[in-house]
Amino acid sequence: MAERPYTLLSCGISIDGYLGGATEQRLLLSNQADLDRVDAVRAGCDAILVGAATVRNDNPRLLVRSRARQEERVARGLAPLPIKVTLTRRAKLDACANFFATGATEKLVYCASAAVAEARDRLGPVATVVDGGQPVDLGRMSEDLRARGVRRLMVEGGGSVHTQFLTADLADELHLVVAPFFVGDSRARRFVGDGRFPWNPDRRATLAEVRRIDDVVLLRYALSPRFRMD
Ligand SMILES: NC(=O)c1ccc[n+]([C@@H]2O[C@H](COP(=O)([O-])OP(=O)(O)OC[C@H]3O[C@@H](n4cnc5c(N)ncnc54)[C@H](OP(=O)(O)O)[C@@H]3O)[C@@H](O)[C@H]2O)c1
Repeated sequence: MAERPYTLLSCGISIDGYLGGATEQRLLLSNQADLDRVDAVRAGCDAILVGAATVRNDNPRLLVRSRARQEERVARGLAPLPIKVTLTRRAKLDACANFFATGATEKLVYCASAAVAEARDRLGPVATVVDGGQPVDLGRMSEDLRARGVRRLMVEGGGSVHTQFLTADLADELHLVVAPFFVGDSRARRFVGDGRFPWNPDRRATLAEVRRIDDVVLLRYALSPRFRMD
């Protein structure tokens, strides 16, 4: 079997398990200290991945913000910023989105075969579009990322992407940050959708760390034998 990157899933949720609110407005679940922790985790990864809906709805930049952390990466022989990765079936992505327009780093778009031509038309000047299958096969995508030099991959959501990495047993580690409030509206996106997860009452995941970060808590789960405590 081909190698795949060490894969770390990261997200913030409300006490009732939602990734955001029910409206299009972005909901801040994290706090400043936790955002700085996420920045450090990003700096330790070769690539950061989000689903196309997150690119459209949240318009994230997905950069390492700290200059010192960028310089540490360069001292380790890496590029200052991790590669950015997204996946899409429909290719309805805006080349001006922050994902593409910020950060002098490679941007990869894994696109379902049927929309590859459209994706290349739209995004060709700003990203490398890779035919990922119909729909994109996350196992194949992971192997392709490894072949491109990605040893450590950080997946930052949203729910559809987290669900697929978890149900396909492609995740080695999960960072779940719980914000101290409820969303209370089932129209909002949950952390994961329905699926057959490898961790269930008969196969419990390993809770590797619990860390209080001001008013949020980080739960860190080891999901595979490859998990390493750093
Ligand atoms: N709290 C947090 O930490 C956090 C982090 C990230 C996001 N979020 C929230 O999560 C929400 C989005 O979550 P979501 O579950 O709706 O979407 P998502 O996981 O961000 O993206 C889903 C989209 O990715 C593409 N995709 C997913 N799997 C694919 C496959 N196998 N093959 C091809 N394309 C695939 C499709 O794009 P196309 O539609 O383009 O075909 C799909 O609509 C956002 O609104 C954001 O606010 C929260």
